[in-house]
Parts: sequence; C-alpha cells; structure tokens
Amino acid sequence: MSKTIVIYYSRTGENYVNGSIRKLEKGNTEVCAEFIRDAVGTDLFKVDTVTPYSDDYMTCIEEAKVELKKAARPELKEYLDNVDAYDTIVVAAPCWWGDAPMAIYSQLDRLDLTGKTIAPLMTHEGSGLGSFEKSLSKKYPDAKIVKGLAVHGADAAKSEDTVSSWIKKIAK
Ligand SMILES: Cc1cc2nc3c(=O)[nH]c(=O)nc-3n(C[C@H](O)[C@H](O)[C@H](O)COP(=O)(O)O)c2cc1C
Repeated sequence: MSKTIVIYYSRTGENYVNGSIRKLEKGNTEVCAEFIRDAVGTDLFKVDTVTPYSDDYMTCIEEAKVELKKAARPELKEYLDNVDAYDTIVVAAPCWWGDAPMAIYSQLDRLDLTGKTIAPLMTHEGSGLGSFEKSLSKKYPDAKIVKGLAVHGADAAKSEDTVSSWIKKIAK
C-alpha cells in the first residue's frame, strides 16, 4: 500500500449547517480526515494558523474573503518540512468561497510535490469541490491531482463508507 498523509484544515465554532448557524465542537473536515486515517492507516497533519479565524460565522466569512482576494498565506503554528516519506497526499479542507482556506496553501506552497499524487477532499454546504481541484492543478503542476471527493458538511458524520471507498481506490 502506498504511504499516505492527510493534510487538513478544519474549524470548530459557528458554521452554516443545512441553512442555519450551529456551533460545531469538531469540524466536519476533521471528521472526514479521521475516516481516511481509519480506512487506510494514514498519518494526519492538521494545519493551524497563528492567528485563529473567528469563531463567529459572519466574521469568519469576511476574514476568509479578504484572504482569498489577496491570496494571503497566513502564518501557521507548525509546518511540515517535507513529504518525502509519502506517495499520496490527501488535502482535506472546508469550502471557503469556493476554494480551500488560504492556510492550506501556506503549507502546500512550502512542499516539493513533484511526482506526488494529490487527492482533494472538500466539505461544503452546496458548492461541492468548487474550484479546489483547479486551484491545486494550477498551483502544483508537477503533482498528479486525482478526482476529488465532495462531502456535504452536514452529513460528514454519515460519510464514512463513501470516504473509505474513495480513499481505498486511490491509496492502494
Ligand atoms: C468562511 C466560510 C466560507 C464558506 N464558504 C462556503 C462556500 O463558498 N460554499 C459552500 O458550499 N460552503 C461554504 N462554507 C461552509 C463550509 O464549507 C462547510 O460548513 C464545511 O463543512 C466546514 O468544514 P469544517 O467544519 O471542517 O471547517 C463556508 C464556511 C465558512 C466558515
């Protein structure tokens, strides 16, 4: 089996779930990242920003919009230096304005992804994968981006079978 790591970002606090705002104790993407780990025994790396995004949903929406507009690369608490030990990198993120949070790219930009297989997973409230796959292909042309998986955030806890069969086809 290929050696796989999941690099993910996930936010607790207020989020939009099926049309109303709810406070999440554990982020939807983290739930999916753990399903991937359980399915194929991957390592997990959680991206965490030095300056946290707001717990308040509406404030976070604005913060994310500003970062997306200026292609910000917010500073992270910790970085992976390399992914030499891995063949497959799952990049799991919530959909923020159609793309991943810029914090994900703060990490990916620092890695040599040449020849790596990148498998995108995105949790969302209606946008699916948005432009995530396209963003990854454009930013990291030396990696092979495989078909991603979109998981409706509100259904994250029920997505284990879907997530598991998706990753088992990729991380063989
Ligand atoms: C800042 C922000 C922007 C969002 N933008 C979108 C969006 O463009 N499309 C969408 O379907 N969902 C959007 N959502 C909803 C999240 O993608 C969804 O709730 C996701 O499952 C959250 O994952 P997490 O709990 O791992 O952070 C947004 C949520 C936030 C906080």
